[in-house]
Amino acid sequence: MPKGRVGKLVGLTGNSPAPPRTLTGINEFDRVTGGGLVPGTGVLIGGDPGIGKSTLLLQAMAALSGKGGHVIYVSGEEAIDQVRLRAERLGVAGRDVMLLAETNVSDILATIRESAPVPTVVVIDSIQTLWSPVIGAAPGTVSQLRAGSEALIRFAKQTGASVLLVGHVTKDGQIAGPKVIEHMVDTVLYFEGDRGHQFRILRAVKNRFGPTDEIGVFEMSDRGLQEVDNPSRLLMGVRDTSTPGTAVFAGMEGSRPLLMEVQALVSQSSLGTPRRAVVGWDSNRLAMIVAVLETRAGIAIGAHDIYLNVAGGVRVREPGADLAVAAALVSSLCAIALPFDAVFFGEIALSGAVRPIGQTEQRLKEAAKLGLNRAVIAAGAETPCVTGVDLKLMDDLSALAAWITS
Ligand code: TYD
Ligand code: MG
Repeated sequence: MPKGRVGKLVGLTGNSPAPPRTLTGINEFDRVTGGGLVPGTGVLIGGDPGIGKSTLLLQAMAALSGKGGHVIYVSGEEAIDQVRLRAERLGVAGRDVMLLAETNVSDILATIRESAPVPTVVVIDSIQTLWSPVIGAAPGTVSQLRAGSEALIRFAKQTGASVLLVGHVTKDGQIAGPKVIEHMVDTVLYFEGDRGHQFRILRAVKNRFGPTDEIGVFEMSDRGLQEVDNPSRLLMGVRDTSTPGTAVFAGMEGSRPLLMEVQALVSQSSLGTPRRAVVGWDSNRLAMIVAVLETRAGIAIGAHDIYLNVAGGVRVREPGADLAVAAALVSSLCAIALPFDAVFFGEIALSGAVRPIGQTEQRLKEAAKLGLNRAVIAAGAETPCVTGVDLKLMDDLSALAAWITS
């Protein structure tokens, strides 16, 4: 083995200035990146095909160029004319974004290296189209994806440009997905939503320069993505309040509270194995809550068909939604509507106990802001006093069921 050079060891404390940031001016986007893109870094933006990644990036890049950023948008999927048509539809055709329709990594690198001044941001749409002639594999394969992305990230580190890599999430595993390059980039964002709904959520799942779990909320319109500053209001706007089986969960998405409507339908089953269909929530978690309701609270629900949906195409990940799910289930089973002005949150233990969850005050404040002035939460939480919200404390699921049916 060749003799190595001796490196310089340094201590933990030192003067590391905060990295500079490039803001696009689209607040929902900038917040998710942790307060702007960091020069010299690679960012992956993953999402289902058709969810709106190209739309989001074209809008963000147009905004950035309007603030003096030098942007190169490399489209490997769409021809220049298609990108221009989209820009027109989005009302940003006049902006100074440079386009390149290219998939060959060497040609892309040659072009962006030549560009003067050094680009502030280079967008690659998408990594699945990248193709490098020196690698003997088809575009879309793991080795092509890795090699292409690596070369582009190296370009970012060398020049100080930010490189945004778009990756389609693929379900059938036929072509490689964004997961295979997550470890190479500094920031990983996912753009999610249900194509049938207009709601879109941009979520940070990894960020070396900011918090994760931060979200940005958009609404897809016929003129592109609109920022939604008050997502709870959008969700609550479509509420049907008199039907049994709906409960409002006061959730947190990153640093922001978000009210979501949980809808349950419990019906007699004619099948040996009752049906369970879940949208926007974890089906294992539902099975657990059903079992706990049955065993600990004596509610005969297990033999019924159960359908559970979170309104607006949102996906709930917090276990704190357990109490809202349980309330919606009991409400539907007993055909008793829950009070229209109540929110629910709390985690359910296997013992049937309701456990407090964090950020109670922020959740209550959001509820109060939207005129929901009753909160059903776990007993034993340090209960902050929020003006305009009456608290109903629950020890366990039996108490919840008794309260709903009383
Ligand atoms: P797109 O950004 O092409 O998705 P992705 O790059 O993630 O594959 O957007 C896809 C969908 O968005 C497409 O079905 C049309 C719709 N759309 C609108 O509803 N309004 C718009 O202004 C634009 C540009 C697209
Ligand atoms: Mg696209």
